Amino acid sequence: MTGKAVLEARNIVKELGRGAGVVRALKGVSLDLRAGEWTLLMGPSGSGKTTLLSILGCILGPTSGSLTVAGHSTTGLNAEQLADLRRRNIGFIFQSYNLFPTLTAEENVRLALDVRGERGPEVTMMAQRALQQVGLGHRLKSYPGNMSGGEQQRVAVARAIAGKPAVILADEPTAALDSENGEAVMQLLADVASRTEHAVLAVTHDNRTLKFADRILKIEDGLLVGEERRPEGVDTIHQIARGKKKRNKNG
Ligand SMILES: Nc1ncnc2c1ncn2[C@@H]1O[C@H](COP(=O)(O)OP(=O)(O)O)[C@@H](O)[C@H]1O
Ligand SMILES: [Mg+2]
Repeated sequence: MTGKAVLEARNIVKELGRGAGVVRALKGVSLDLRAGEWTLLMGPSGSGKTTLLSILGCILGPTSGSLTVAGHSTTGLNAEQLADLRRRNIGFIFQSYNLFPTLTAEENVRLALDVRGERGPEVTMMAQRALQQVGLGHRLKSYPGNMSGGEQQRVAVARAIAGKPAVILADEPTAALDSENGEAVMQLLADVASRTEHAVLAVTHDNRTLKFADRILKIEDGLLVGEERRPEGVDTIHQIARGKKKRNKNG
C-alpha cells in the first residue's frame, strides 16, 4: 500500500539556456510522489528527465509552476532555505556514484548527515545501519577505489537513505553497471520504497527494470505522456506487459 503524497509538482515549466538558445526543457509537468511507491521515469535522451529530477530535488528552481516537498511549498524560498529543504527531505543517487574518493564508505554516508547538522554518536550509528541495509556492513572502512561499481552504487544508496528522506531520486542509477549489479541496485531501491517511509523515483532506460515498478511515467519532449500503474493483486508490471496475471503471493 502507498501512503500520502510527500511531493507534489504542479505545472512545472523550465527554460534552460539564454537568448536565442533558450530551450523549454519542461513544458508543464504535474505529478505526485507517495510514500511507499516505487516509480520509474522513462523517456528518450533529451526529453527532460534530468531537468525534472533536478527540480523535484530542489537543485534547480522552476521557471513557473509550484512544488511542495514534505508539506513545504518551495515558492519564495531563498537558496539557503531551498538547500535546507533538500538536505532534510531528498536523497539523490546519480549515475556516477559521486562518492568522495578520500573518504571511507562510512564517512561518505556520514557526510550527508553532517551537512544536515546531525551530530553525535547517533550519526555514526545511522551511517552504519544504512550500510548494513545495503549489504555492506563488512565494508564500512573501505575506500571507493577499492570497491566494485556495484558496491560503490550501494554506498550511494546508503548515503541517500541514511537520513530517512521522504523522497529518493535516482538518475539512471544502473547505467554504469553490468546487468547483475544493475538488477541488484534496482531491487534494493524497490525494497527501500516498500518500507513506506520513502517515495522512490528512478530514471531508467532499462526495460529489465520494469518488473520492479509500482508505476511507470513516460516523458517525451518535456511533457508527461503516459502513466501505467500496477493494479492490486498483480505482482509486477512485467506480468501485465506479458498478459499474465499471477496470484499475489501474499494472499
Ligand atoms: N544547461 C542547459 N542549457 C541549455 N539547454 C539544456 C541545458 N541542460 C539541458 N538542456 C536541454 O534540455 C533538454 C532536456 O535535457 P535533460 O533534462 O538533460 O534530458 P534527459 O535527462 O531526458 O536526457 C535537452 O534538450 C537538453 O539539450
Ligand atoms: Mg538525463
